[in-house]
Amino acid sequence: MIRQAIIPLAGLGTRLLPLTSVFAKELLPINGKPGIEYIIDECIEAGIKEIVFIISDKKLMIKNYFYNDRFYKKIIKKKKDKRIINEYKKILKYKKMIKFVYQNKPLGTGDAVLKTKKLIKDKYFLMLLPDDLIIKQNCSRDMIKSHIKYKSSVMASMSVNKKTISRWGVYNLGKKINKSNYFINDVVEKPKLKDAPSNKAVIGRYILPRSIFHIISKLKPGAGGEIHITDAIRELIKMNEKFIAHNFKGKYLDCGSMHGYIKSGLEISKL
Ligand code: UTP
Repeated sequence: MIRQAIIPLAGLGTRLLPLTSVFAKELLPINGKPGIEYIIDECIEAGIKEIVFIISDKKLMIKNYFYNDRFYKKIIKKKKDKRIINEYKKILKYKKMIKFVYQNKPLGTGDAVLKTKKLIKDKYFLMLLPDDLIIKQNCSRDMIKSHIKYKSSVMASMSVNKKTISRWGVYNLGKKINKSNYFINDVVEKPKLKDAPSNKAVIGRYILPRSIFHIISKLKPGAGGEIHITDAIRELIKMNEKFIAHNFKGKYLDCGSMHGYIKSGLEISKL
């Protein structure tokens, strides 16, 4: 079973400026609900018991969202509003399962993952990137099923338009297991069109082995001077860790860019 999830939230969110100059993008409402709550709900439905948030001191707002008890208690005492009581109960439920670690310098996703090392107890854990929403089907739950069946690490995969390929991590696929799952021979971060091994891209859901921490701690900064999780995954594949690309069902929404963020609200309002 996968019981723990980690969520990196310490990035700068430059694509959503100017909003992110004062606000954490993960708290921005998508059809009236903060983006991060969709991600937490996906975890809960997938059977996750503990979630580790990687935040920075610039994103303390995210912790405050879950730790505003005095404010809620005061308001509830005064107003006795059923809606507010239910919202507070929901926040309390989330708070019970969330732990916080800090990455005060955004040195890359790999570096963010490393910050959770001391808290991860089992052999495998789930990682979700909060910019990537997947609606209509619980991708994490389906990936956990594949993980249990094939005893492998798993990453979410989606076909993308070749013209956009240099924006993505791209898979070099190996043996087909079934319609939804392929073994991965390699993964390349943001390849040029001519070098792209396929049109299957990495989407922000990963089931990773705890052994990745050791690999990250030995990594040198890669593209853009950052420590990328993809570089650690490449190393693990070279060391024969089995990785599966899971072609998820459901609809992908990109909430990390302004265009995508606006579109996500419209799509979710149609559900
Ligand atoms: P991105 O690089 O895609 O997003 O990181 P960003 O940095 O938040 O935003 P832009 O690109 O400047 O607009 C993917 C995820 O990894 C986290 C981010 O918070 C995001 O959820 N991240 C990234 C970290 O936690 N730490 C880092 O050093 C880098």
